[in-house]
Amino acid sequence: MNVLVIGSGGREHALVWKLAQSPHLKKMWCVPGNAGIALEPKCQLEPISADDLPGLLAFAQKNKPDLTVVGPDNPLALGVVDLFQKNGLRIWGPNQKAAQFESSKAFSQHFMEKYGIPTAQSGTFSEAKPARDFAVSLQGRCAVKADGLALGKGVLICSSVAEANAAIDEMLSGKFGAAGKTVVIQELLEGMEISLHALCDGTTAKLFPTAQDHKRIGEGDTGLNTGGMGTYSPTPFLSESELANVGNKILGPWLKGCAAEGIDFRGILYPGVMLTKQGPKVLEFNARFGDPETQVYLTRLESDLLELLDASVNGTLSRMELRWRPGASVCVVMASAGYPGSYAKGKVIHGLAEVGALADTKVFHAGTATANGQVVTSGGRVLGVTSWGGTLAEAQAKAYQAVAKIEFDGAQVRRDIASKALPK
Ligand code: AMP
Ligand code: GLY
Repeated sequence: MNVLVIGSGGREHALVWKLAQSPHLKKMWCVPGNAGIALEPKCQLEPISADDLPGLLAFAQKNKPDLTVVGPDNPLALGVVDLFQKNGLRIWGPNQKAAQFESSKAFSQHFMEKYGIPTAQSGTFSEAKPARDFAVSLQGRCAVKADGLALGKGVLICSSVAEANAAIDEMLSGKFGAAGKTVVIQELLEGMEISLHALCDGTTAKLFPTAQDHKRIGEGDTGLNTGGMGTYSPTPFLSESELANVGNKILGPWLKGCAAEGIDFRGILYPGVMLTKQGPKVLEFNARFGDPETQVYLTRLESDLLELLDASVNGTLSRMELRWRPGASVCVVMASAGYPGSYAKGKVIHGLAEVGALADTKVFHAGTATANGQVVTSGGRVLGVTSWGGTLAEAQAKAYQAVAKIEFDGAQVRRDIASKALPK
């Protein structure tokens, strides 16, 4: 098969790396890709933006991939799947209606309440007064969320009425454009946050093992929210039977709701879940692979990813088995100085060749480019250094050994990825 992968981050590098291992793969294009993706076997980059739907369509019509794989949320929300399907092109990912689970928090919240999926107590508002009243009823302890996609910046966590009022005003003031015209306010949930992923084909959902992201920039989960500074899988916070139970509580009603609402979801459903004292509660749904969750999942997946994505498109997932390597994977993100605020680009990255020779380690590129024959930084999150081993402690040690060999000016690294899951 010839495959087109859309996107340019660490998630897409992991997808390309894993797809390249499939015996069914003949040739792959990645648009726009990055410096690491360019080095994967059978893969060719094309400079088309992931959001340029007419450009993507024209490329696919000319090159006729047997399957297109969509990485990021934006093209899904813009309807790339519907557009390709209308033009007779096979594509993996949820269509625009199904992608609303991520593109509209109000849609998701309403859906969860209607179909009895455990979630936070919440309200949806487009005017400040009732929103403020609701926040007061929660003593200001709430999460104020822009309804639409806001580049991961649309959630403000508040612990007082004054903070909640400021957050509501900020969201409704138009700072987030159309995305913030409606806000969802959730009660603040406490507990351990984990990532779940399920591969879906419209009627079947196959649950992955657990993973955990580290969203804050600082060690000990302090400082600003980021796209994700590191992940590991599995987490010790749910046993396999507990995971199956949580999966049923979420995916059972979710599948029923999709059937009732005529939602044909073929792709990854990624619920962010808080394990509270009252049980698991869904904070949000994403409609794509997590980044950097993908990096740890795909270094654990033994099954052929191309076969799985193909089955997800065909609606034949019930016949497929997801096999996972025992042990664990850890991904440590190396980010640019200043991230998640503004940062400089073009810093030369040293040590990649040396790390490339290490066993059980793969450096996924997130924000890199090539300049004068050297690999340089070109994004906030630059690399996802991913290692695996028989135990979590082993995977963590290998990942940090690899990180120690890589250098670029001002690199930021959290030193505590996966530490929460290990004895002190
Ligand atoms: P979201 O994009 O909705 O996942 O929110 C971003 C992050 O904010 C989540 O990963 C959580 O860490 C945090 N968060 C969101 N909603 C809540 C909530 N209701 N209670 C506590 N933390 C939350
Ligand atoms: N791991 C965070 C995200 O993909 O949204």
